[in-house]
Amino acid sequence: MKTGSGRATAKIILIGEHAVVYGQPAIALPVASVPLTATLTPTTDGQQVVTSSFYQGSLTAVGSSRFAAIATLLRRLLTFFGAPHAGFHLTITSALPAERGMGSSAATAVAVTRAVYDAFDTPLAAATLLNWAAQSERLLHGNPSGLDAATASAKRPQWFIKGQPPLPLALPTRGSLVIADTGIPGQTKAAVAAVASALAANPAPTQAHIAAIGAATRRAAIALADSDLPALGRELNVAQTHLVALGVSHPRLARLIDAATAAGALGAKLTGSGQGGCMIALADSPAAAEQIRAAVTAAGAVATWQLNFAESEARS
Ligand code: MEV
Repeated sequence: MKTGSGRATAKIILIGEHAVVYGQPAIALPVASVPLTATLTPTTDGQQVVTSSFYQGSLTAVGSSRFAAIATLLRRLLTFFGAPHAGFHLTITSALPAERGMGSSAATAVAVTRAVYDAFDTPLAAATLLNWAAQSERLLHGNPSGLDAATASAKRPQWFIKGQPPLPLALPTRGSLVIADTGIPGQTKAAVAAVASALAANPAPTQAHIAAIGAATRRAAIALADSDLPALGRELNVAQTHLVALGVSHPRLARLIDAATAAGALGAKLTGSGQGGCMIALADSPAAAEQIRAAVTAAGAVATWQLNFAESEARS
């Protein structure tokens, strides 16, 4: 074993969250400017130590902390490489806020898997990486679609359908996205479970909302291909109305979405699992995005980010 390192990025779901769990398509973007890195350094004292903002200490003492699923993944990876008791120091450095719908758990799983494969000098195929990441995501969320890990490990926007290989998509040369954090933690597991309960209690209307999000996502892909930002914005708004109906929005999300719309956003919605976390707003230029950032900050956003399509590394 040598020192191994792995990288992943934040992700934002442009459209399709929640419906993607039920087989509908989703479109998600890696945010290269918000990275997460994992470095696995071998040690000779037999200790297995983690330093991260999620967890600090020995792997054996993880218990049921938020790091438990990643700890299980790490143990399985080390066992796979025949080194379950190898001494190491794992350092995770992250610019991602946890529990804000930006995919911090999937990004951690991706970066840790890449670091372990690198430490054992072994090539890692994309499908194998997603299989490993799915293991910790299942422990955390119960029924993940796999979208978060697919996007956290990608360089390009992804068209994603559960159980199928993701397809890269191109972004328009114009347009910007503002991402704004409500500051309210959102739990993916609870939000996914809320939709599952709605489906069990009221199958027909809930299924109709899920299908409507899928249809909006397909139209959004056409708008992206046509570089039609107003049409894309309209589909973001349509998706938001159905996400509200599914019970995964939050008054603080609604406040930021209203502020962004009043400041000229072409469309705005929650991103990720909701019930807190982040929202996104589409702007037709970087200057318009700056105005929206100012408006959502005045409306209470605790942090904002901006993704200009023209500068995006993710653009083809
Ligand atoms: C969470 O980032 C996205 C959800 O659609 C869940 C999933 O796809 O696993 C809410």
